[in-house]
Amino acid sequence: MKKITLALFGLVAMLAGGADAKTLVAYYSRSGNTQTIAEMIRDATSADIFEITTADANHYPDEYRPATVVAKEEIESGNSPAIAATPDMSQYDTVFVGSPCWWGTMAGPVHTFLTTTDMSGKTVVPFNTHEGSGAGSVHTDIEKLTPQSAHKNGIAIRGSEASSSRDTINAWVKEIGE
Ligand SMILES: Cc1cc2nc3c(=O)[nH]c(=O)nc-3n(C[C@H](O)[C@H](O)[C@H](O)COP(=O)(O)O)c2cc1C
Repeated sequence: MKKITLALFGLVAMLAGGADAKTLVAYYSRSGNTQTIAEMIRDATSADIFEITTADANHYPDEYRPATVVAKEEIESGNSPAIAATPDMSQYDTVFVGSPCWWGTMAGPVHTFLTTTDMSGKTVVPFNTHEGSGAGSVHTDIEKLTPQSAHKNGIAIRGSEASSSRDTINAWVKEIGE
């Protein structure tokens, strides 16, 4: 009886999304907008969620202008900051990677995340928030850093509209088959 129950459970899991298909939403968010979108994606996909944070919690100044200066310096130099932790990626087939748009590209901590984790063989789906630049080069730069991955079309959401974007996110997730 136990064996039959286990076999049935396995079959249900397989029909629900592949034998071991697991999805992660990994994101960095300085002021909460990208986090809002990440949580909507998690809700729509039943994914695990992982917040990328800097090893030094005070790495970016609280004030906007000084933070843009630090961010610009590190984007120009390619010296992205250390991050506090990375998840065990081996269990995931699909990874949504989220970032605010900073100076047209991904935020430094997301750059660090992608250069310190193994994304090969996974499907990477970029998303970002912004205040006018749209995706900028965020999605293409994420794709460039994950050359051994498959990619699906990403989405860009205006940060100030993040909290009213659930329908847009649900429709996009459906459209890309996740
Ligand atoms: C350092 C920095 C650079 C930014 N550069 C851009 C930019 O180039 N284009 C843009 O549209 N918005 C830019 N923004 C605005 C953010 O992308 C936007 O507010 C985003 O929603 C913030 O996401 P978060 O709340 O998850 O941190 C920048 C913000 C910061 C702090």
